[in-house]
Amino acid sequence: YGDANQKIDYVFKVVLIGDSAVGKSQILARFARNEFSLDSKATIGVEFQTRTLVIQHKSVKAQIWDTAGQERYRAVTSAYYRGALGAMLVYDITKRQTFDHIPRWLEELRSHADKNIVIILIGNKSDLEDQRAVPTEDAKEFAEKEGLFFLETSALESTNVENAFMTVLTEIF
Ligand code: GTP
Ligand code: MG
Repeated sequence: YGDANQKIDYVFKVVLIGDSAVGKSQILARFARNEFSLDSKATIGVEFQTRTLVIQHKSVKAQIWDTAGQERYRAVTSAYYRGALGAMLVYDITKRQTFDHIPRWLEELRSHADKNIVIILIGNKSDLEDQRAVPTEDAKEFAEKEGLFFLETSALESTNVENAFMTVLTEIF
């Protein structure tokens, strides 16, 4: 989980986007600090956390930005996307609406971010299989059509969170 004295070869900025309450902040907490909270509060403005990892013998500082899904709490869009090399587009597998909004998030991303940005679609809360409202196949098909990576994660159970970040960071690399 990083070392203050470590030499950094690269800094990669990755942004998290998606509707409110899909679990963006908890995915970040899991990745950056290996923590999870069930009573997570809605994000206001912008926060970011970093974690340094080694990829192909180079130390990469992942700088992960997190903002509010709620419109009224959102930060200035252009500043949020500036310099981002990766994006995680998150929906909640138990809330169909959060998946139905993904094209809008993708549109915002494509109009503000660099055209070569690496994007992964993430269906979070895979631990709530009994409440699933979005079939894996629907998301997989959408991701293929749009040229996105795709994974289902659980920040709660720590499933695929590391994998999702590594997919993006390795592809940027
Ligand atoms: P905004 O900041 O408002 O945009 O929301 P957010 O996307 O950051 O959501 P947040 O991470 O705050 O999580 C919302 C709620 O979902 C919290 O109660 C979390 O504990 C819960 N949650 C997040 N990830 C998971 C998960 O993988 N499984 C389950 N069961 N709950 C989760
Ligand atoms: Mg949040």
